[in-house]
Amino acid sequence: MDIAFSQEEIEKLEQIKTKYPEPKAALMPALWMAQKKWGWISPEVMQYISNLLNLPLAHIEGVASFYTMYHKKPMGKHHVQVCTNVSCMLRNGDKIYEHAKEKLGIGHMEATQDGTFSLEEVECMGACGGAPMVAINEDFYENIDIESFDKLLDSLK
Ligand code: FES
Repeated sequence: MDIAFSQEEIEKLEQIKTKYPEPKAALMPALWMAQKKWGWISPEVMQYISNLLNLPLAHIEGVASFYTMYHKKPMGKHHVQVCTNVSCMLRNGDKIYEHAKEKLGIGHMEATQDGTFSLEEVECMGACGGAPMVAINEDFYENIDIESFDKLLDSLK
């Protein structure tokens, strides 16, 4: 696989850089763009971003490994994140997570064999008012129960 942003993506990144006093600050948006494009942040992607932003590879690796939102291995097309933190747990978020593990046959940060789903147990995502919540990729779903969770997943197959 060729690792390179398109001309359009490079231009977008250049524009992002102008918003910060230091071009270094564009690293997180660059990693996010890369994850959207390639699905995860592989060592090759890190090297590419390092060359592109003229930053040491160790710095890229440090940022990518610190933030859990950057996947360091391939995840599913639909990345299911179930919050089990206090507010969600009090409203059965932990039971939804256990159910998700069983339904998908995978554990935390694992993907189904066909690559359709991956699962992550997450900390509070700031949507406690709608607890229990589940996020799939970047979409949030609130006041979820096991039935609505099943419907949601079935609609994505
Ligand atoms: S505790 Fe789940 S979103 Fe805050």
